[in-house]
Amino acid sequence: MLAHLLYRSSGRDNLFFYRDCDDILAVARERNARLGLTGFLHAEDGIFVQWLEGPENALNQVVDSIMEDARHRDITVFSRGAIEERQFPVWAMGFSDGSQAPLFDFLAERGTNSHDLRAFGSCLHRFLLLRAA
Ligand SMILES: Cc1cc2nc3c(=O)[nH]c(=O)nc-3n(C[C@H](O)[C@H](O)[C@H](O)COP(=O)(O)O)c2cc1C
Repeated sequence: MLAHLLYRSSGRDNLFFYRDCDDILAVARERNARLGLTGFLHAEDGIFVQWLEGPENALNQVVDSIMEDARHRDITVFSRGAIEERQFPVWAMGFSDGSQAPLFDFLAERGTNSHDLRAFGSCLHRFLLLRAA
């Protein structure tokens, strides 16, 4: 079964943020490719937003690592569970940052706020799909 995870988190410290991104991506792309996982990571102003998808067992393994990773905290999961098809099939882990596309502008233009976690999550999902297109 194919499953996914969508979450937002805070990077540990602005000083390390972009260097952490490089390190995370190098390991993530290698491990994801090996396990058949795909997805997209956006990093901006100390915030991570990530969609990760693939076979459920492999996904759960990597999600356990991500949840325990000291390079971020305050993890908010918006959705997790079965999906019918991959949303980011060609990306071992795509990446964008605020310089290419400001997430906060995107959210503000749509009047989205985090009170309604479901709506907020679906807006983040749309943003990541646009970045990957
Ligand atoms: C924001 C964030 C996103 C991450 N995304 C992935 C990912 O997509 N795939 C992955 O294998 N590791 C990812 N990692 C790194 C894992 O937490 C972990 O360091 C890595 O998978 C190696 O795991 P291990 O130390 O248990 O072998 C991410 C870490 C952070 C902080």
